[in-house]
Amino acid sequence: MDVDNSIEAILQEARSHNEKNGITGQLIYRAGIFVQFLEGSRDKIEPLLGRILLDQSRHENLKVLFKQELSERLFPDWSMAYKQLDDTALDIVNSIVPWQQLINTSNNGEKISANRILKVFEELKA
Ligand SMILES: Cc1cc2nc3c(=O)[nH]c(=O)nc-3n(C[C@H](O)[C@H](O)[C@H](O)COP(=O)(O)O)c2cc1C
Repeated sequence: MDVDNSIEAILQEARSHNEKNGITGQLIYRAGIFVQFLEGSRDKIEPLLGRILLDQSRHENLKVLFKQELSERLFPDWSMAYKQLDDTALDIVNSIVPWQQLINTSNNGEKISANRILKVFEELKA
Protein backbone atom coordinates (compact mmCIF):
# COMPACT_ATOMS: atom_id res chain seq x y z
CA MET A 1 0.00 0.00 0.00
CA ASP A 2 1.48 3.37 -0.89
CA VAL A 3 1.44 6.44 1.33
CA ASP A 4 -1.53 8.11 -0.39
CA ASN A 5 -3.65 5.00 0.01
CA SER A 6 -2.65 4.65 3.64
CA ILE A 7 -3.60 8.24 4.36
CA GLU A 8 -6.88 7.82 2.47
CA ALA A 9 -7.67 4.79 4.65
CA ILE A 10 -6.87 6.70 7.85
CA LEU A 11 -9.07 9.61 6.73
CA GLN A 12 -12.02 7.38 5.87
CA GLU A 13 -11.88 5.65 9.22
CA ALA A 14 -11.28 8.90 11.11
CA ARG A 15 -14.11 10.76 9.39
CA SER A 16 -16.73 8.10 9.96
CA HIS A 17 -15.79 7.66 13.61
CA ASN A 18 -15.42 11.40 14.25
CA GLU A 19 -18.78 12.20 12.71
CA LYS A 20 -20.47 9.83 15.15
CA ASN A 21 -18.66 11.38 18.11
CA GLY A 22 -18.84 15.08 17.32
CA ILE A 23 -15.10 15.28 16.75
CA THR A 24 -13.68 17.73 14.21
CA GLY A 25 -10.20 18.86 13.22
CA GLN A 26 -7.44 18.78 10.68
CA LEU A 27 -4.68 16.35 9.79
CA ILE A 28 -1.45 17.74 8.33
CA TYR A 29 1.09 15.52 6.60
CA ARG A 30 4.59 16.10 5.29
CA ALA A 31 7.38 13.62 4.63
CA GLY A 32 6.31 10.87 7.00
CA ILE A 33 5.13 13.21 9.77
CA PHE A 34 1.53 13.79 10.87
CA VAL A 35 0.44 16.75 12.97
CA GLN A 36 -3.22 16.53 13.94
CA PHE A 37 -5.61 18.98 15.55
CA LEU A 38 -8.54 17.31 17.30
CA GLU A 39 -11.48 19.20 18.77
CA GLY A 40 -14.41 17.81 20.69
CA SER A 41 -15.62 17.03 24.18
CA ARG A 42 -13.03 15.67 26.57
CA ASP A 43 -14.98 12.44 27.10
CA LYS A 44 -14.69 11.71 23.35
CA ILE A 45 -11.18 13.04 22.74
CA GLU A 46 -9.46 11.10 25.53
CA PRO A 47 -10.60 7.65 24.32
CA LEU A 48 -9.68 8.63 20.75
CA LEU A 49 -6.16 9.54 21.85
CA GLY A 50 -5.98 6.13 23.49
CA ARG A 51 -7.02 4.42 20.25
CA ILE A 52 -4.60 6.38 18.10
CA LEU A 53 -1.83 5.60 20.59
CA LEU A 54 -2.57 1.88 20.24
CA ASP A 55 -2.61 2.09 16.43
CA GLN A 56 1.11 1.39 16.33
CA SER A 57 1.26 -0.26 12.94
CA ARG A 58 0.51 3.12 11.33
CA HIS A 59 2.65 5.49 13.36
CA GLU A 60 5.32 5.63 16.00
CA ASN A 61 6.21 8.17 18.64
CA LEU A 62 2.94 10.00 19.35
CA LYS A 63 3.30 13.28 21.22
CA VAL A 64 0.56 15.55 22.57
CA LEU A 65 1.55 19.17 21.96
CA PHE A 66 -1.23 20.77 23.99
CA LYS A 67 -4.69 20.25 25.44
CA GLN A 68 -6.87 23.27 25.98
CA GLU A 69 -10.50 24.29 26.39
CA LEU A 70 -11.72 26.19 23.34
CA SER A 71 -14.69 28.55 23.19
CA GLU A 72 -15.35 27.70 19.56
CA ARG A 73 -14.15 25.22 16.99
CA LEU A 74 -11.76 26.05 14.17
CA PHE A 75 -13.15 23.24 11.98
CA PRO A 76 -16.85 22.98 12.85
CA ASP A 77 -17.72 21.58 9.42
CA TRP A 78 -14.90 19.06 9.09
CA SER A 79 -14.99 15.56 10.59
CA MET A 80 -11.29 15.62 9.62
CA ALA A 81 -9.89 18.13 7.16
CA TYR A 82 -6.66 17.10 5.44
CA LYS A 83 -3.72 19.15 4.26
CA GLN A 84 -0.60 17.80 2.62
CA LEU A 85 2.05 20.41 3.37
CA ASP A 86 3.59 21.50 0.07
CA ASP A 87 6.43 24.04 0.06
CA THR A 88 4.04 27.02 -0.01
CA ALA A 89 2.12 25.74 3.01
CA LEU A 90 5.40 24.90 4.73
CA ASP A 91 6.47 28.57 4.38
CA ILE A 92 3.24 29.62 6.08
CA VAL A 93 3.85 27.20 8.95
CA ASN A 94 7.49 28.27 9.29
CA SER A 95 6.47 31.92 9.60
CA ILE A 96 4.51 31.03 12.75
CA VAL A 97 6.43 28.09 14.27
CA PRO A 98 9.37 26.44 12.54
CA TRP A 99 8.11 23.05 11.33
CA GLN A 100 11.31 21.39 12.60
CA GLN A 101 10.66 22.81 16.05
CA LEU A 102 7.06 21.64 15.93
CA ILE A 103 7.98 18.07 15.05
CA ASN A 104 11.09 17.85 17.23
CA THR A 105 9.45 19.21 20.34
CA SER A 106 9.84 16.74 23.18
CA ASN A 107 7.50 16.02 26.03
CA ASN A 108 9.93 17.32 28.63
CA GLY A 109 11.54 20.17 26.67
CA GLU A 110 10.37 23.70 26.13
CA LYS A 111 6.70 23.79 25.12
CA ILE A 112 5.44 25.70 22.10
CA SER A 113 2.48 27.85 23.18
CA ALA A 114 -0.97 26.54 22.34
CA ASN A 115 -1.80 29.86 20.70
CA ARG A 116 1.00 29.56 18.18
CA ILE A 117 0.01 26.02 17.28
CA LEU A 118 -3.62 27.08 16.93
CA LYS A 119 -2.47 29.89 14.65
CA VAL A 120 -0.78 27.35 12.37
CA PHE A 121 -4.07 25.49 11.90
CA GLU A 122 -5.99 28.71 11.51
CA GLU A 123 -3.66 29.94 8.76
CA LEU A 124 -3.67 26.63 6.90
CA LYS A 125 -7.44 26.63 6.88
CA ALA A 126 -7.61 30.06 5.23
C1 LIG B 1 -2.24 9.81 12.00
C2 LIG B 1 -3.51 9.13 12.41
C3 LIG B 1 -4.63 9.90 12.69
C4 LIG B 1 -5.84 9.30 13.05
N1 LIG B 1 -6.92 10.08 13.33
C5 LIG B 1 -8.08 9.51 13.71
C6 LIG B 1 -9.22 10.31 14.02
O1 LIG B 1 -9.23 11.53 13.94
N2 LIG B 1 -10.35 9.64 14.39
C7 LIG B 1 -10.42 8.28 14.46
O2 LIG B 1 -11.45 7.75 14.79
N3 LIG B 1 -9.36 7.52 14.15
C8 LIG B 1 -8.20 8.10 13.79
N4 LIG B 1 -7.13 7.30 13.47
C9 LIG B 1 -7.32 5.84 13.49
C10 LIG B 1 -7.24 5.28 14.89
O3 LIG B 1 -5.87 5.15 15.20
C11 LIG B 1 -7.93 3.91 14.97
O4 LIG B 1 -7.42 3.06 14.00
C12 LIG B 1 -9.42 4.04 14.75
O5 LIG B 1 -9.95 4.98 15.64
C13 LIG B 1 -10.16 2.71 14.93
O6 LIG B 1 -9.88 2.18 16.18
P1 LIG B 1 -10.43 0.73 16.58
O7 LIG B 1 -9.78 -0.22 15.61
O8 LIG B 1 -9.96 0.53 17.99
O9 LIG B 1 -11.92 0.80 16.44
C14 LIG B 1 -5.91 7.89 13.13
C15 LIG B 1 -4.78 7.12 12.85
C16 LIG B 1 -3.60 7.73 12.48
C17 LIG B 1 -2.40 6.89 12.17
